[in-house]
Amino acid sequence: MIRVLGIETSCDETAASVVALDGTSAPEILSNIVLSQIEEHAAFGGVVPEIAARAHVEALDGIIEAALADSGAKLADIDAIAATAGPGLVGGLIVGLMTAKAIAAAAHKPLIAINHLEGHALTARLTDGLDFPYLLLLVSGGHTQIVAVRGVGDYQRWATTIDDALGEAFDKTAKMLGLPYPGGPNVEKAAASGYATRFAFPRPMKGSAQPDFSFSGLKTAVRQAATAIAPLSDQDVADICASFQAAVADALGDRVSRTLTRFRLEFPGKAGPALVVAGGVAANRTIKATLEALCAEAGFAFVAPPLKLCTDNAAMIAWAGIERLRAGIAQENAADFVPRSRW
Ligand code: KG4
Ligand code: ZN
Repeated sequence: MIRVLGIETSCDETAASVVALDGTSAPEILSNIVLSQIEEHAAFGGVVPEIAARAHVEALDGIIEAALADSGAKLADIDAIAATAGPGLVGGLIVGLMTAKAIAAAAHKPLIAINHLEGHALTARLTDGLDFPYLLLLVSGGHTQIVAVRGVGDYQRWATTIDDALGEAFDKTAKMLGLPYPGGPNVEKAAASGYATRFAFPRPMKGSAQPDFSFSGLKTAVRQAATAIAPLSDQDVADICASFQAAVADALGDRVSRTLTRFRLEFPGKAGPALVVAGGVAANRTIKATLEALCAEAGFAFVAPPLKLCTDNAAMIAWAGIERLRAGIAQENAADFVPRSRW
């Protein structure tokens, strides 16, 4: 039995978790505590790094204690500490990684520095026991990428955004329309009573031979439409949201479909290929339905881990620690690891 304590502080969630693996059965999430700072940032319409770092300092000790208590394990029972070391907001990363280093040093436990994106990439193995290789679509407030997950520590980025992240496009659209932060869920809610065909917004990169995403042109088109018909009625807002969401789903579907084809070419022998989604935007039902249909058509399994494990959490960090220990690729000198805002 191996138990790892995970710590995540790279953005606006303070999180700790204990995950266990006994080698014979499926891994078990013994605890998974996530404290969201959304309320603290809402007044500013986005995450304020300084506020985030201070909130992590205030909350982290209690969150770690709660994760240990919930798991039924004592610190002495923990085999290693895994902490997010990047990429992310450097203030939060420093808080999490330094706390992990202190606990590891005091309790004589190994420390594993984890790349936050690796946490997202390996989650489907924790929840669904997926075998390598598979495709990951990460769509969050900070990232929009398609990654070929080939093994532990073996990731190939096949597509990324050349401007805004998709969650960011949702949040900025919401802000332009006067909808509250975080924008994504509110755009989706408003879209439910809107006409998706009223505005013909662009589908950036659709059909392009280059694999990447782009969303800033779409954002500009939304701004122009909103300015042209201001003041906006509730129906106008709903129609813009519905039309925006339709454009996003269409553009995203085009990019994803392209990588499904590439996956078939690069891994022709792979039986039961799968597309995994992660990140807060994966909660969007229109987007989910589009991807599900695409996968069904292309013969890919569509894997959407529970939302709590798709958005930022520490169980994925603890799990990445277990994967690295198991693969024998945990760093020797993680105690010297310096947080990396970009990684
Ligand atoms: O993964 P996540 O919780 O956190 C980070 O980005 O780190 O993703 C948050 C993003 C925000 O931009 C939010 O607006 C977006 O995910 N989001 C959504 C929905 N729920 C959250 N976007 C579209 N539709 C949703 N239902
Ligand atoms: Zn994330």
